[in-house]
Amino acid sequence: MDKRQIKEKVYWLGAVDWDRRLFDSLIPLPDGTTYNAYLVEGSKKTALLDTVDPSMAGKLLAQLAGVSKIDFIVSHHSEQDHSGAIPHVLERFPDAKVVANPKAKVMLIDLLKIPENQFLTVEDGETLSLGDKTLKFIQTPWVHWPETMVTYLEEDRILFSCDFYGSHIATTDLFVTDQWRVYEAAKRYFAEIMMPFRNVIKKNIEKLKGCDIHMIAPSHGQIYDHPDWIMDAYQDWVTGAPHNLVVLPFVSMHGSTQQMVDRLTSALVVQGVRIELFNLTVTDIGKLAMALVDAATVVVGTPTVLAGPHPLAAYATFLANALRPKAKYLSIIGSYGWGGKTVETLAGMIPNLNVEVLGPVLCKGAPSKAVFEALDRLAGTIAKKHEENDFK
Ligand code: FEO
Repeated sequence: MDKRQIKEKVYWLGAVDWDRRLFDSLIPLPDGTTYNAYLVEGSKKTALLDTVDPSMAGKLLAQLAGVSKIDFIVSHHSEQDHSGAIPHVLERFPDAKVVANPKAKVMLIDLLKIPENQFLTVEDGETLSLGDKTLKFIQTPWVHWPETMVTYLEEDRILFSCDFYGSHIATTDLFVTDQWRVYEAAKRYFAEIMMPFRNVIKKNIEKLKGCDIHMIAPSHGQIYDHPDWIMDAYQDWVTGAPHNLVVLPFVSMHGSTQQMVDRLTSALVVQGVRIELFNLTVTDIGKLAMALVDAATVVVGTPTVLAGPHPLAAYATFLANALRPKAKYLSIIGSYGWGGKTVETLAGMIPNLNVEVLGPVLCKGAPSKAVFEALDRLAGTIAKKHEENDFK
């Protein structure tokens, strides 16, 4: 695909990765992704904003075939899916300066061995004139790494946001065509990499209110030509109250924990609480992460195996702890055969979660009437807590 114009003298370049199914060897990408770069041609200078994953460098270089000069390569974020082809572009345009903030410069030297004298470092709020177009650099740490920044093209009112507001969707649509599809993909992306840094992201959102943004051009997924809705969505994900929702990741070996999950589900529904189940033997971990954006309560369902929680339940708990969702309550349910330290082990795995732990319900063997009644009481406690907090 050749480069495509998005505004006068502003072009999308990049690659569509239809086949990629895993990011950072961790994050599922069910719909592939794109690596977006942008070319801004001013009356005096030309800048390339980001590059592509190194596996797709050839596509970017082909798009740059008709470009006679690049003066600046702006690196918003040092992760290789955006920075990885910078060395290839520098081979073609050896006089180009790599524009990066001081933190990113160190990372790019470490990761890509770019020579130190190739850099032009920029500070927060600094501008770079291309003649009739002006790039303003705004530091936005933790969207996704601590060095991340964005660029605001003042004359065209375009925010080049890199991972911020991005979505993993392989598509040839340049602009958003299916808002709800992009909403889901963007939420998944937020949940997987940005949710733990909500407090910093909140500050970044505030900072961007100083820009009159008419278009957001991220480095993954489609461009937002009407960006208000995605900015509102981020505001909700970052600062909105948790929902009247229980997220229940679970695993069952011989059916006892499954019976407990089913009973708790029914009891919560009767109490007017929404619940989403994630059977960890089949679940898409990205879907679980997305549900955690809104959940007020997390309940982990696990049998005891090898004297502790099932490894899949331990993984889900570790992940929830790492993602630091807004959940206010947590509990544990499950079955054991003869003993073990499931509750103690899981409770020790959530130091990052600011939650009240509600009494766990564990049972020896298959659940009895008393166990089902205990699950009903847990559902009642959860419903009461949600109601007290006015979670909708
Ligand atoms: Fe798209 Fe953090 O890289």
